[in-house]
Amino acid sequence: MLDLKQRVTVAFSIVFVTAGALLSHPQPQARYEIRAIHDPNGTGRFYMGREIAQVMGAGGIAWLDRPERADEEHPDLVIKAMGLHGGDVVADLGAGSGYFTFRLAPMVGKTGKVLAVDIQDEMLATLQQRAIALGITNVVEVKGSENDPNLPASGVDVVLMVDVYHELAYPFEVMTKVRESLKPGGRVVFVEYRKEDPSIPIKEVHKMSVEQLAKEMNVVGLAHVRTVESLPSQHIVIFEKKE
Ligand SMILES: C[S@@+](CC[C@H](N)C(=O)[O-])C[C@H]1O[C@@H](n2cnc3c(N)ncnc32)[C@H](O)[C@@H]1O
Repeated sequence: MLDLKQRVTVAFSIVFVTAGALLSHPQPQARYEIRAIHDPNGTGRFYMGREIAQVMGAGGIAWLDRPERADEEHPDLVIKAMGLHGGDVVADLGAGSGYFTFRLAPMVGKTGKVLAVDIQDEMLATLQQRAIALGITNVVEVKGSENDPNLPASGVDVVLMVDVYHELAYPFEVMTKVRESLKPGGRVVFVEYRKEDPSIPIKEVHKMSVEQLAKEMNVVGLAHVRTVESLPSQHIVIFEKKE
């Protein structure tokens, strides 16, 4: 048994050793922060100073497929900016009901493939029904999780993310996996509403600035290549792997 003096000495030693270990190995800062005061359209979870938006549910399919969308968002100009080739493997990450998936499929042809990734079964079921109805055979539905899109390592030429990035619950983890999925020379193409323009009538947490996007891609090893400003309300922002 230790006497009182020995017990005090042992207690002090434990405190000093623990404090020393913490100082020499600082704990990693929490990547995501929860704030009580936040935008009602957001989740209250913040990443690199930005509030993460709520995920659009299957109830949003009618809005995603609205006939006037082509005039408002010019999907043809997005596809042009992607610079696709026949035989490319393209991932439509956060594909939703497939608004872009089925426009991408003819661009990559029979030798190419579109990996349509989503986390919601309703979106994947809609994608599958549409592929069958349209007789399209080069679309593969992929069930992702909140922190992993389940893409093949070094297997993708271009990852397209339209109106998705701002609602990823784990942007750091997903984009780390996206980087791993890119072939040498592969690119990531984001389409997001311009946060820089307050007159765009979209909820603030559903917009992204180019500066914020570049900051968030820098930490996962993706370098900004260029921004294409050919759309009325959205940026097309292109990144590639930093070697
Ligand atoms: C606003 S919708 C956009 C759908 C489609 N890109 C379009 O433009 O029509 C966002 C989609 O991203 C999906 N999503 C959200 N988080 C995701 C994640 N971590 N991985 C894959 N998909 C995700 C949602 O389920 C939803 O279908």
